[in-house]
Amino acid sequence: MGKKNIDWANIGFGYQKTDKRYVSNYKNGAWDEGTLTSDDTITISECAGVLQYAQTVFEGLKAYTTEKGQIVIFRPDLNAERLESSASRLEMPVFPKERFIDAVVKTVEANEAYVPPYGSGATLYIRPYMFGSSPVIGVKPAQEYQFRVFTTPVGPYFKGGAKPITIKVSDFDRAAPHGTGHIKAGLNYAMSLHAIVTAHEEGFDENMYLDAATRTKVEETGGANFIFVTKDNKVVTPKSNSILPSITRRSLMTVAKDYLGLEVEEREVTLEEVKDFAECGLCGTAAVISPVGRINDHGKEINFPSGMEEMGPVTKKLYETLTGIQMGRIEAPEGWIKVIK
Ligand code: PLP
Ligand code: COI
Repeated sequence: MGKKNIDWANIGFGYQKTDKRYVSNYKNGAWDEGTLTSDDTITISECAGVLQYAQTVFEGLKAYTTEKGQIVIFRPDLNAERLESSASRLEMPVFPKERFIDAVVKTVEANEAYVPPYGSGATLYIRPYMFGSSPVIGVKPAQEYQFRVFTTPVGPYFKGGAKPITIKVSDFDRAAPHGTGHIKAGLNYAMSLHAIVTAHEEGFDENMYLDAATRTKVEETGGANFIFVTKDNKVVTPKSNSILPSITRRSLMTVAKDYLGLEVEEREVTLEEVKDFAECGLCGTAAVISPVGRINDHGKEINFPSGMEEMGPVTKKLYETLTGIQMGRIEAPEGWIKVIK
């Protein structure tokens, strides 16, 4: 199939309408069979649960063109499982795992012309989501829901791609100790908008959120988990019940251990010890691995030895191995890659 005439190397992380999207509706306790549609608009009640009480959850994954020209997706089973736990936490029905994967595959197939070519630096971002579509005015779950999947071609999440970024320690909290930080709910992102706009106005690329209870431990950013590298090459990632269980981070810990032979630790990380790490990076589907060169903690700067010009050496190896697996240059662990065609 011919590709769309898009300047793949120069697209940023933005929305671009593609040809088809998947839709399935939940009514009277059951999902309908689902279908692909060309209609990118949604008509719902003015009183829909999503509009009044933010009853919406989503996922994010990507389709890649491999070195051999296949189109593949990365660990969609984990996105399906995470959508399930997000939906359950917001009292929404579960969209079955097999159907989730099938919907993603169908949507990517239908938008094949938008899957960026191998080596272009771009990928096709896939956004599955679900929302309460029927009216609610008392605070309670909706009776009806819609599940959708759309795709959009994207470039790097942070301008400059692999160039290290500067982040600030935020004075805002992202998630309460027993709240919803561990699920992918729209509400977590709505409440981070003021914090990210403030950070950008102050010249920072992102926020580092701390644990809300003690404000001493590192949590995550608005859209990615942290990985740190110690001076003796150990890969450390914060453990917390109020951060999103990133699929990229879980995969990177396996890559570090099994492919690079590095020691890995998932544990609480204090803000106090961050200055002692050699490298810092943000990881996620959108962020891939974005190196952090500097953290500003209320005027006090932490400058990582890896500097502001390049990724640190361990971060780079992690990046190259993970993207090598995703693009088919390196053999993947069993079950990580689903070939679409
Ligand atoms: N943390 C937050 C808050 C996110 O929004 C994301 C993005 O999905 C991640 C972490 C990274 O998760 P994943 O690697 O599964 O994309
Ligand atoms: C993703 O990485 O898929 C996300 O959902 C993060 C978002 C901030 C774009």
